[in-house]
Formats: sequence, C-alpha cells, structure tokens
Amino acid sequence: MATANSVRLVTHNKMGKFDLSHRVVLTPMTKQRSDGNIPQPHAILYYSQQASKGGLLIAEATGGVPDTAQGYRCTPAFGTKEQVEEWKLIVNAVHEQGDILFCQIWHVGRVSNQIKSNHETH
Ligand SMILES: Cc1cc2nc3c(=O)[nH]c(=O)nc-3n(C[C@H](O)[C@H](O)[C@H](O)COP(=O)(O)O)c2cc1C
Repeated sequence: MATANSVRLVTHNKMGKFDLSHRVVLTPMTKQRSDGNIPQPHAILYYSQQASKGGLLIAEATGGVPDTAQGYRCTPAFGTKEQVEEWKLIVNAVHEQGDILFCQIWHVGRVSNQIKSNHETH
C-alpha cells in the first residue's frame, strides 16, 4: 500500500523536457559485446526488450569521442560513421516503442587507448 512518502513507480514523471509515463529506468550496464567497438545487432534486440512506452533507458557506457577515450575491449563507441549507423538502428528500435534512450558518454581516463589499438588487440 502506498504511504504519504512513497513514490508510485507507475506514475507520470516530468524529467526536464521529458514526460515519462513511469519511473523505472534502465541503468547503464557495460557488456563488452561490441566487437571492434561497433554495436552489434543483438544490442537492437536487447534495448528493444528493455523499452516500454514512456520509459527511459540509459545505454551502456560509450566511448569514441574523442577516439582516445576508449579503453576497454568490445565496449561500444560512436566515433566513426559505422558506429553511429549501428547506434541509429538501436535508437530507432527504442523510439518505435515510445521509449527514450540516453547515451552515457565515457572517457576511461588513464586506461584510455585509441580505437585503432583496440582493433589491433582482437
Ligand atoms: C555488469 C554491470 C555493468 C555496469 N556498467 C555501468 C556503466 O557502463 N556505466 C555506469 O555508470 N554504471 C554501470 N554499472 C552500474 C549500474 O548502472 C547501476 O548503477 C548499479 O548496478 C546500481 O546498483 P548499485 O548502485 O547498488 O550498485 C554497471 C553495473 C553492472 C552490474
């Protein structure tokens, strides 16, 4: 039963300019399944499965901007045209369900490397 201090999960949530239908948010979760730092087709399925009308998803940490921001193998990036095109497919699939996808931009500091070097370690 809801108390005076409780927040109902399935209630409207105005977050800045976004009008969300509920308060269940997907937190970013790194997977290291993006071969060559390129999001793969299974990510379209994964994020689609998390999506719901009026919801908010935060995608896994994403590097590539600048290209020295990348540090971990198989994490996604959006620095190249190919990477951006794959992200578009994911975003479109999520939008089709009326959900919003935020990208978590990542710079991994001292462990950072260039995307080119990541490719070479595969
Ligand atoms: C496998 C895994 C990967 C995660 N990757 C990220 C990430 O990429 N970015 C981030 O900010 N948090 C990441 N997190 C943290 C989660 O988004 C989330 O904040 C956390 O699991 C919530 O629970 P906690 O704060 O009680 O640990 C990750 C967590 C897990 C379990």
